[in-house]
Amino acid sequence: MSTSNETLFIQHFGNEESRTLNYYLNQMNGYTALKKALGMKPDQLIEEVKASNLRGRGGAGFPTGVKWGFIPKQSDRPKYVVINADESEPGTFKDRDIMRYTPFLLLEGMVITGHAIGSNVGYIYIRGEYTREAKLLNEAIQTAYDRGYLGKNIQGTGFDFDVTVHRGAGAYICGEETALLNSLEGKRGEPRVKPPFPAIEGAFRGPTVVNNVETIANLPFIVNRGGKWFSDLGNLPGSGGTRLVGVSGHVKKPGLYEFGAGGVTIRELIYDYCGGILGDKKLKAVIPGGSSSPVLRADEIDVILDIEPLQKIGSMLGTASVMVVSEDYNVVQLLRRMIHFYAHESCGQCTPCREGSQWMEDIVKKILRGQGREEDIDLLEDIASNIDGKTLCALGEAVAWPVQSFVKKFRPDFEAFIRGGAHA
Ligand SMILES: Cc1cc2nc3c(=O)[nH]c(=O)nc-3n(C[C@H](O)[C@H](O)[C@H](O)COP(=O)(O)O)c2cc1C
Repeated sequence: MSTSNETLFIQHFGNEESRTLNYYLNQMNGYTALKKALGMKPDQLIEEVKASNLRGRGGAGFPTGVKWGFIPKQSDRPKYVVINADESEPGTFKDRDIMRYTPFLLLEGMVITGHAIGSNVGYIYIRGEYTREAKLLNEAIQTAYDRGYLGKNIQGTGFDFDVTVHRGAGAYICGEETALLNSLEGKRGEPRVKPPFPAIEGAFRGPTVVNNVETIANLPFIVNRGGKWFSDLGNLPGSGGTRLVGVSGHVKKPGLYEFGAGGVTIRELIYDYCGGILGDKKLKAVIPGGSSSPVLRADEIDVILDIEPLQKIGSMLGTASVMVVSEDYNVVQLLRRMIHFYAHESCGQCTPCREGSQWMEDIVKKILRGQGREEDIDLLEDIASNIDGKTLCALGEAVAWPVQSFVKKFRPDFEAFIRGGAHA
C-alpha cells in the first residue's frame, strides 16, 4: 500500500481539449493499453483486473475482475458489454464528467472489456437528461470508427468491436442493471427476477457484463501500469485505484474531488478540501454515498470514506457522492423529499416498495404538518423493515435505509414536530 496522491481523471476535467482523440493519443497514452491488452490472453487480463482490486463504481462495490470471471467462456449467443451511464442516484455527478472530458478512456476500456470476456458488441445506456453527454459520446464514437479504434479489425489486430449509445427516458429504475437491460431491449424498464444474473443471461439473453462508466474508464490505466500499481493507489486492502468523490450540499466548495481509494476521512473532505460548512454553521448530517446510503451524524465523520469503513459503521460508500447538511436544515423535510423521489421512481412491480414508499411519505408529511403521533415514528420503522430485503431490486433498500437511519439518528427531530414547537 502507498499514500500516492496520483489522480487519474480530475486533471482533465474542465479541459475542452481532453475529449479529442488527438489529445488522448498524445497526452494520455491513448490506446497503448488496448494494444497491450489484445496481446494478452483473456484470462490473463481478467487476472490482472482481479489483482488491481478494482471494485465497481456504480454503488455496490462488487470486484470487477470477479464479475467478469462469471461470464461463460463458451456461449451460443453473442456476449455483451453494457455500460451503465444512467447516473441517477441523487447527489451523483461523476460519470458525467468522464463522458464529457475523457470519453476515449471509456471507449478504450470497453474494447478491453470486450476482449476479456469475448464480446464484440457494447452499449452505453445513458440517462435521458444527459443530452449533451450523449452527443459528445456519439461524436467520440464516430471519430473512433473513422480512425480505426472501433469497428472491424481494430488497428489491424483482427479484433472487432462496435459501440452504440442508447438513451434512457428519465427513469431512475433503469439504472438497476436488469431494468436497464429490459429498457435497452425496448421493453418496460422493470427489474428482472434473479437468477439468472446478467453474466449468464443478460442483454438479448446473452452473457453480459454491466459495469459503471467510472469502473470501465479505469481499465486503460490498469492495463498500462499493471494491476498491482493500481491496487497500490488505494490506501486500504481490497480497494484499488482512485475514487471520484462528488460533494454537494452546504459546503463552501462543492464539486468533484479525486483521492486514492480510502485516502480521506469525511471530516478531512469537508473541512480540509471543501472549505467547511456554509456560513461557518455547524454540521448536522452527512449522507456519504448518494441519497440511498444511510445517513451519518456529525459525530461520525472521522470515518475513512471507503467501502469497508463505512459498512462497519452501518452506512455505505455507494457512489461516493457525499451530501452535506448544515445545522439549520430540517432533516425531517429532507427525508420527506428523498422518500418522495423513491416513491415516484418505484417501478411498482413489488408491493412493499410501491405501497410502502408512498405510506412512508404520507406519514412524514403528516409529522411535518404537526399532526403526527409518537407511534408514527415506530410505524415508519416498521414499514421500512418490511420493504428492506423484500423486493426484486435494491430500490426497496434505497428508500428503506434512509428512513431507518434518519429515524435512528435524528429521532428527536421527528419528536419535535410531533410534540409541537418545530415548523416545517
Ligand atoms: C434502483 C437502482 C439504481 C441504480 N442506478 C445506477 C446508476 O445510475 N448507475 C450505475 O452505474 N449503477 C446503478 N445501479 C447499480 C447497478 O444495478 C449495477 O450494480 C452497476 O451498474 C454495476 O456496475 P459496477 O459493478 O461497475 O459498479 C443501480 C441499482 C439500483 C438498485
